[in-house]
Amino acid sequence: MSEFYALVPAAGFGARMGNELPKQYLELAGKPMIWHALSTLCAHPDIGTVFVVLAPGDEHFARYDWSHCGSKLAPLYCGGETRAGSVANGLLACELEPDDWVLVHDAARPCLTQALLDKMIAELRDDPVGGILAVPVADTLKRADAQQRIAHTEPREGLWQAQTPQMFRAGVLAEALARCNSVTDEASAVEALGLQPKLVASDSSNFKVTYPQDIVLAELLLTSL
Ligand code: CTP
Ligand code: MG
Repeated sequence: MSEFYALVPAAGFGARMGNELPKQYLELAGKPMIWHALSTLCAHPDIGTVFVVLAPGDEHFARYDWSHCGSKLAPLYCGGETRAGSVANGLLACELEPDDWVLVHDAARPCLTQALLDKMIAELRDDPVGGILAVPVADTLKRADAQQRIAHTEPREGLWQAQTPQMFRAGVLAEALARCNSVTDEASAVEALGLQPKLVASDSSNFKVTYPQDIVLAELLLTSL
């Protein structure tokens, strides 16, 4: 029987947020942003341990009370230069079995729900490859030219926006990231092995908090969930 683990890269600075405090620690509905996703992952009965990958010099994480997560939460101070580097370092440090499932989730997606986690695990637990939460693209897509004028309209049929969690076997993911570390998500590295991860339909509430205006929306969602 393979086990389920979560790995949360949280070693970024949040440059696009433009705040001195790294964005994963900005206050959101009365808690640091990272508190929400970690609490949701720790509360899931199938997930054994939630590894959180922090920057080596992180002085913020240890200041908060994590007692509600019990012994499930395991901080690792081994973040890398890039998100992919942080995930690869975290995977090495947590020493999982090759067949264990690992759900990689951004600290900056605080609105993940138990319902989405349940759906993802149910759809993928017997899958040979694994997969990701994603949403079919809803808006019409425009290709820009160098003058920021519309060069043409791109067909959106069959296009999905990738989210996290991204769920793969630990052995496959470690191999994929070792071969290809310039990716912006785990699925891209797994695709480069010639595999086809499954798209599990999610919804737009699981968005990534990236810009200052995203904070208000995330707070509204978190206080209404
Ligand atoms: N991340 C990480 N290590 C890095 C860069 C990013 O662990 N070297 C993490 C972030 O902390 C975040 C997740 O990866 O939880 C998604 O990245 P993103 O939203 O891009 O966060 P930042 O890289 O911090 O933001 P920005 O790109 O605006 O600087
Ligand atoms: Mg980034």
